[in-house]
Amino acid sequence: MTQSDKADRNIIDLRSDTVTKPTAAMRETMARAEVGDDVLGDDPTVIALERRFAEMLGKEAAVFVPSGTMANQIAIKVHTQPGDEIICHEGSHIIHYEGGGPAALAGCMVKGLAGLRGQFSASEMLASIRHDNVHYPRTRLVSLENTHNRGGGAVWTLADITSVTDAARSAGLATHLDGARAWNACAAGNYTPRQLAASFDSISMCFSKGLGAPIGSALAGSEAFIKQGRRVRKLFGGGMRQAGILAAACLYALDHHVERLRDDHANAKTFADLIARIPGIKLSAQHAKGIETNIVLFELDSIVPMNAAELTQRLKTRGVLMLPTGERSLRAVANLEVTAEAIKRAAAEVANCVAK
Ligand SMILES: Cc1ncc(COP(=O)(O)O)c(C=O)c1O
Repeated sequence: MTQSDKADRNIIDLRSDTVTKPTAAMRETMARAEVGDDVLGDDPTVIALERRFAEMLGKEAAVFVPSGTMANQIAIKVHTQPGDEIICHEGSHIIHYEGGGPAALAGCMVKGLAGLRGQFSASEMLASIRHDNVHYPRTRLVSLENTHNRGGGAVWTLADITSVTDAARSAGLATHLDGARAWNACAAGNYTPRQLAASFDSISMCFSKGLGAPIGSALAGSEAFIKQGRRVRKLFGGGMRQAGILAAACLYALDHHVERLRDDHANAKTFADLIARIPGIKLSAQHAKGIETNIVLFELDSIVPMNAAELTQRLKTRGVLMLPTGERSLRAVANLEVTAEAIKRAAAEVANCVAK
């Protein structure tokens, strides 16, 4: 299904912000990209993207990788030794959706901390660090996620971040940010990528979520960290050859698709406001601070005579795609293919389907 197929068929795809197709202008930029063998360090477009990304984050270096998962897993592998423990939120992408990567690839244990909106405090983090004892794994790394996917797109404030990362640093831990949607966090939190990255030893960000590139993430950190990260990228099979075609899409996305993220946030809010009025539907507790970015999590209470899978099927027959996230919970994600008009139609279809 191409982007125009979806529009022609009136399909509103809210399953994720990863479903978007490259726009015609992005494809043209990709087609024109200068390329070379990036594993040999020859691809000028990849080099340009890595430099721009490192500079934007105020870090010494960056490496381009195929996915957010690989960026996180490279970071974990470089920061740790087998047998180490890393601290994440219990709802983190690293724990739920990366195939057990920390165990499989770095030989690490993961400790998950609780907390609404995917967040935890410095004191909760400190309390979870293992003492130096021959019986225990060595706690080595704390990783935050901003925005937080299962936390409903929740945004960390800079003050809350630095409180955790300062405490981590003074306890001798390395710090990583899973910033797959950090562009959304910056737009909503009113801070720059550089301000956000300042607290972390390493930071990964994706171009293939709200920014609409087809493929691509990057990992930034110190020169020494990224040098090691490049070795691990090769080890994981992520060394790509004429990858400038992909990097060109990411550069295009940085130039053209960052400012518009606020439109997605406004659309998500409109959608949430409309569905929250439907009897039997309530927004997830993760939205305690409202709709913060582009993700809306909602639930069906017992007066709705169907579960999330059934509602998803009904919506599909009306051209609206969403993801069930549990027996009675669903997720809708605003993205660059969904207009303000379409989002209202999607909410109206939810009302229609629930009423039947
Ligand atoms: C918070 C978070 N981190 C990492 C990833 C992984 O990105 P990818 O799908 O490119 O591996 C995702 C994907 O949705 C995500 O939501």
